[in-house]
Amino acid sequence: MKGSLAVRAAAGLRAAVRNGAGGGPRAVFPSSRCGDAAAWPSHRRQTACAMGADKNGASLERRRWLHLRRTRSSSSGAAMASNGEVKDIHNSESTKTLLKSDALYEYMLNTMVYPRENEFLRELRLISHHQGAHLLLSLLLKVMGAKKTIEVGVFTGCSVLATALAIPDDGRVVAIDISREYFDLGLPVIKKAGVAHKVDFREGPAGQILDKLIADEEHEAGFDFAFVDADKPNYGKYHEQLLRLVRVGGVLAYDNTLWGGSVAMPDDTPLTEDDIQVRDAMREFNARIAADARVEPVQLPVADGITLCRRVA
Ligand SMILES: C[S@@+](CC[C@H](N)C(=O)[O-])C[C@H]1O[C@@H](n2cnc3c(N)ncnc32)[C@H](O)[C@@H]1O
Repeated sequence: MKGSLAVRAAAGLRAAVRNGAGGGPRAVFPSSRCGDAAAWPSHRRQTACAMGADKNGASLERRRWLHLRRTRSSSSGAAMASNGEVKDIHNSESTKTLLKSDALYEYMLNTMVYPRENEFLRELRLISHHQGAHLLLSLLLKVMGAKKTIEVGVFTGCSVLATALAIPDDGRVVAIDISREYFDLGLPVIKKAGVAHKVDFREGPAGQILDKLIADEEHEAGFDFAFVDADKPNYGKYHEQLLRLVRVGGVLAYDNTLWGGSVAMPDDTPLTEDDIQVRDAMREFNARIAADARVEPVQLPVADGITLCRRVA
């Protein structure tokens, strides 16, 4: 087991405890390029990825994903704590669900998600402390008969694994992330699941990688599906690029488009600067999609808000 993900996770967990991370162990990964574990993310840094990975690096955002603990008493995205402190929309205890009741959230997970969850997805989820809308993604891909997909924002690869399991054996997911550090930790699980041959990981800023795909005529409108879950201020740019890569009739999916409900909060709601920036980016993106005649959109109040766009032109 030496060197295995589980061992590394346990080592990271022990380090977290040693470093006195408040509220119990918080991270399960070694901190190589993530800096001092004692400095685990300030609330401001937790939205680093949402803001753009070039601001302090994507690893801080990844760490945020590792910290998700389902212990929050209210998941309404309220920004003001009872003591008046301004809290992150998605702080380290956030379930990242818009559901107003944790009991309901647990009920859904325990009734519909966990009992029949793929064993490898479960393994990666537990390592990543990350509960995404993977069943929805999986079902959608199967219903569509999707074969060729793009993912922008990979992290440890939970949604990539869900995708690779859902597409046929000769299908392919082009998985883009600014760094492969955490993908490498999830890769052994993807290999164990027997679907690594479907994953084409590309490391680099998504904008550049998408431009390269566009330049390669083989890819022009060659994808059935795209899932975007990376730096929020660039969603609009990715949308334009993906419209050249995803075929008419294909689907573009965007995660976190309701950003903890902040998009509908009054403008003067006390929020962190980062949350204000992401909220504003999401408002702008949502308005853009609503007015975009090239797509037929639907915004689902699932998880943190998922917008599905069917390309119609
Ligand atoms: C929320 S995580 C992705 C989680 C993953 N989709 C899942 O559900 O398992 C966001 C990822 O986006 C990546 N990212 C942030 N900015 C990026 C950029 N400009 N280009 C490529 N990847 C970026 C981060 O490195 C991080 O791994």
